[in-house]
Amino acid sequence: MRYIDERHLDFAVHPLDGRVSRRQHLILKPFSPKVRPAMSLAEDIEIAPRASRRIKLHGAEGFEGMRVAGRIAAECLDMLTPHVRPGVATAELDRLAREFILDRGALPACLFYRGYSHTLCISPNHVVCHGIPGDRTLREGDIANIDVTVIVDGWHGDTSRMYLVGEVAPRARRLAELTYEAFHRGLEQVKPGARLGDVGHAIQSYVEAQRCSVVRDFCGHGVGQVFHDAPNILHYGRPGAGEALKAGMFFTIEPMVNLGRPQVKVLADGWTAVTRDKSLSAQCEHSIGVTDDGYEVFTASPAGLFKPF
Ligand code: MF3
Ligand code: CO
Ligand code: CO
Repeated sequence: MRYIDERHLDFAVHPLDGRVSRRQHLILKPFSPKVRPAMSLAEDIEIAPRASRRIKLHGAEGFEGMRVAGRIAAECLDMLTPHVRPGVATAELDRLAREFILDRGALPACLFYRGYSHTLCISPNHVVCHGIPGDRTLREGDIANIDVTVIVDGWHGDTSRMYLVGEVAPRARRLAELTYEAFHRGLEQVKPGARLGDVGHAIQSYVEAQRCSVVRDFCGHGVGQVFHDAPNILHYGRPGAGEALKAGMFFTIEPMVNLGRPQVKVLADGWTAVTRDKSLSAQCEHSIGVTDDGYEVFTASPAGLFKPF
């Protein structure tokens, strides 16, 4: 998701979205022998469009590209489901995801994105987003969001789900459940002529009626041949406000919902965002396209594991 404070700056360029510089090649090569074949794909997308403030409208080819990328991203999350168990290290899940993606000829979009060096973001409990995989093991009772983005033929499939580790407390399960419901209420607003404010309002009003809060500091984003593109998709808003949706727009909806207050802080690692009040946080993300009569979800789970619990 985009960090909202950046909304007035130019959209940054992923080394694999825009031009792959010599220096980025040098950083990429030593990483893993598996990345080498993937680099030829990176070269293919060297001329991919850069982010801009203009909202792109895509045609049939874009829908086809996003279906393929979205499917691999969703399959990656499906693949992880049986591995998300007490005792698994988050770095191990990251390794499984990287291998899975590279084996399919896709690229992990987060690897080397603005200095990030992992495939997944794994955000347990009070981590709101951008949790960095590492030695931490998941424990019985944790809830964790796993977020993956893959690039296939230049198209980005970006999705995340909640995983419940073993038996979890009822309030933790309830938070995960209501975050899915909030996502759905936003999604149901999507059709040509609706406004982005309608999407945000549907999410916010539901979440607040449940006495939870919507994170303001991160938002969804346009997606396609650029990872984080215009428009910003706020998960709060006023009905009728904001940009009008048009068929062919691609974006993510990815509400982050806290059990307590909405405020977050980013830890010293520069990535990990946590709730200030240490309350639990949950998220659900899909990449979607606006169709003539509604929406298409590009990252639906082929295994029916939309909610892996
Ligand atoms: N997948 C995240 C999103 O939903 C972005 C993660 S960027 C990373 O937009 F560098 F932290 F991986
Ligand atoms: Co996203
Ligand atoms: Co994501």
